[in-house]
Amino acid sequence: MKSETKTMKLKALFWLIVYVCVFSTYFIWDKKLSGGIGYFSFIVGGFLLFYSLVLTAIAGRTLKRFAHDKKDEFIPDRFVDNGIYNCMRHPMHLGIGLLPLSVALISGNLAMILASGWGIGATFWFVLAIEEPETLRKYKDDYIKYLQRTPAFTFSLKCLENGLYTLKDNSLTQQNSKVELKGFEAKHYDKLIDTVTLGWYPKFIEQVIKDLDLKEGVKVADFGAGTGRNALLMLPYIKDNGEVISYEIGQEMQNQFLQNTKDFQNIKLENKSILEDLDKENYFDVVFISFVFHGFTQGNREKIIQNAYKLLKPEGVFAILDFNEFDIEKSSFYVRLPVKFLECPLASDFINRDLEKMLSKYNFQDFKTKTYFKNYLRSPILTTSAIF
Ligand SMILES: C[S@@+](CC[C@H](N)C(=O)[O-])C[C@H]1O[C@@H](n2cnc3c(N)ncnc32)[C@H](O)[C@@H]1O
Repeated sequence: MKSETKTMKLKALFWLIVYVCVFSTYFIWDKKLSGGIGYFSFIVGGFLLFYSLVLTAIAGRTLKRFAHDKKDEFIPDRFVDNGIYNCMRHPMHLGIGLLPLSVALISGNLAMILASGWGIGATFWFVLAIEEPETLRKYKDDYIKYLQRTPAFTFSLKCLENGLYTLKDNSLTQQNSKVELKGFEAKHYDKLIDTVTLGWYPKFIEQVIKDLDLKEGVKVADFGAGTGRNALLMLPYIKDNGEVISYEIGQEMQNQFLQNTKDFQNIKLENKSILEDLDKENYFDVVFISFVFHGFTQGNREKIIQNAYKLLKPEGVFAILDFNEFDIEKSSFYVRLPVKFLECPLASDFINRDLEKMLSKYNFQDFKTKTYFKNYLRSPILTTSAIF
């Protein structure tokens, strides 16, 4: 252990010397890039600095999470080939090696830019001639296989994405769900969603409600109602003799709901969880649930389906507006990144499941579906016309 600590110190000294050599050139020759090239260098350097810091941080956290059998040991004692280490062997060194170049480009100092090229050369040498043979001696065959399947370095952004994703807590628990909105997000839910979607959402949700084809006088249960926006959009279709009963447990959402719907007697709020055993049996023509269902564990989703079935009249419809089933890894980046990093892991779990199969298990049938937003979203409608 003592010799490993000594080696670590020597390695740290090596990096210190590389950094000092690169940065000290600044004081030797103060020629700077000017005009357009100077600005270009500044911008490229900024991006590179961000990249190298993110890369180093991801690599460091991956080692911290996966490389230690004994939690309080600094030196890794376990071979790590997952997360960011699954797509490159030396992310930490790439990050550390690019740092002087990024600072040099930001400063625009020509001597430093040229010297940082040597710094990168020193990084490659150090990794391939010193570090790697040492790791090879330590992990033998495992490392040979790893070496054959994994490049030493890559600039792939997908690699960065996968590295970051591995660090996320991806456990499929209800505690890890984001479906119960609170605080700022809940207080400004409608405005946030309209802004983030650049004004697309209001027209979209109007269209979805229109597509429900609600008839005058029908009774609708709105599961996880939010601010009341959906209930208000239903009113022109169900008219005064129809009714919306909204189930919502979030305090901030309830406050907005009551304020928004105060003028309409036929929109009512029930402060009840859709996971509870709900009591209005055989009462509703439609149960609507919008962007709520994916946020539950599979066990809880099944409770919600059973509740919907119980509350619906025979031949009533269960309408679920949510993500469609698709291959997340093959989806466009503007869908993949929010799903992986902003949504809870339950959303990915839901996207990978067969919804029709899930619902037919509880006697729903006649699956009609309409897709939206390049097939990434859908609103299937299922009738309960009844296989008993
Ligand atoms: C993402 S928001 C969607 C709101 C609304 N359906 C919409 O489309 O605008 C999810 C809502 O479900 C509510 N919710 C979460 N868990 C619930 C539960 N167990 N019972 C009832 N409502 C719930 C949250 O408080 C939140 O208002």
